[in-house]
Amino acid sequence: MQALILAGGKGTRLRPLTVYTPKPVVPVCNRPFLLYQLDTLRRAGVTDVTLSLSYQPHKIEQQLGDGSDYGVRLSYTVEPQPLGTAGGYKFAEDLIREPTVVFNGDIVTDFDLQSAIREHDARGAVATVVLAPVENPCDYGVVEAVEGGRVTRFAEKPVAHDCGVNTINAGTYILDPKVLDFIPAGEGYSFEYDLFPALLARGEKFYAHVPEGAYWMDIGAPARYLRVHHDILAGRVRGVKLDRRRGDSDIATRAEIDRLSLVADGCTVKPGAQVVNSVLGEGVHVEEKAQIVNSVVWPHTRVGAGAQVSDAVVGRGCHIGRSAKVGAGAVLGDKTSLTDYTQTGGAL
Ligand code: GDD
Ligand code: MG
Repeated sequence: MQALILAGGKGTRLRPLTVYTPKPVVPVCNRPFLLYQLDTLRRAGVTDVTLSLSYQPHKIEQQLGDGSDYGVRLSYTVEPQPLGTAGGYKFAEDLIREPTVVFNGDIVTDFDLQSAIREHDARGAVATVVLAPVENPCDYGVVEAVEGGRVTRFAEKPVAHDCGVNTINAGTYILDPKVLDFIPAGEGYSFEYDLFPALLARGEKFYAHVPEGAYWMDIGAPARYLRVHHDILAGRVRGVKLDRRRGDSDIATRAEIDRLSLVADGCTVKPGAQVVNSVLGEGVHVEEKAQIVNSVVWPHTRVGAGAQVSDAVVGRGCHIGRSAKVGAGAVLGDKTSLTDYTQTGGAL
């Protein structure tokens, strides 16, 4: 079994965060996001991994290298222009020799990949799609399956009245290389709009795998990106171990950092400051009496004295002026500078 991670999208819904940082490597609890997916693959014994890139590929390669630091062997493909999800897989054809686990490069999950692989093999499936239940299925690919797992319907982002079920495509597939023959080379082609409907029309062995009680989230929009942090901090995602040491940071004895929060190396937290249920990236500077609550702050940002940041995401190298308020739903791009007393925020 080998793996391919689709990581070529532009991450538009996560802007401004993805202007300088491509979505696959946005920090999640201070680690480049794709490392969580590499952990999942490695734990299931899948170590031959291809990253299918298109947008800002060099920034991704630069961070992940040949994968040896993470116990996997990474190869890269870079499409000259985005070829769509199935087009990205087809573009990697030369590297694909065996059944392949395909991940959308923006999902966090703790499902048991090995059992999905076993089920795929036992059924002799050509393609298996992993399902997740969600509250708003029409925002995703809606999948219906019958008893025994055979997929009967795949509808990508159907109109609201046409959802039917609450089970969606979790963005994880197991594909037999045979499906490569159904994908045209060198042109845009989508798993969701093209390949899966074609497999159904041809009556191919297309199955759904339904994990039990698994965590699942797509980080591709700010509210969900923030929610994943809170879920990881609260221990709701199995298998994620956080490094909560605060050894290398300068934290005043009269600062308050709750036990959920994560503080990277090189941070400074001054007296009277509070950090609650939040993540501070490397080298973040929090001045006297500033409060950071339910938020994510990327590296090298300064939060001025008495400023309040709550339910917000603050990019890299920002400057939040003193007594400024950054409220619920605010997403500040890298290098944002807010003058003292600024008030900002909306509802997530
Ligand atoms: N290589 C490559 N080339 N990758 C791409 C391309 C491309 O042209 N377009 C998108 N991707 C990657 C993205 O980087 C992302 O990791 C993944 O494919 C899915 O694209 P999204 O843009 O995030 O899709 P979505 O979230 O709207 O919907 C998809 O994911 C849902 C689950 O999160 C679909 O697969 C839905 O069916 C699914 O329910
Ligand atoms: Mg997505």
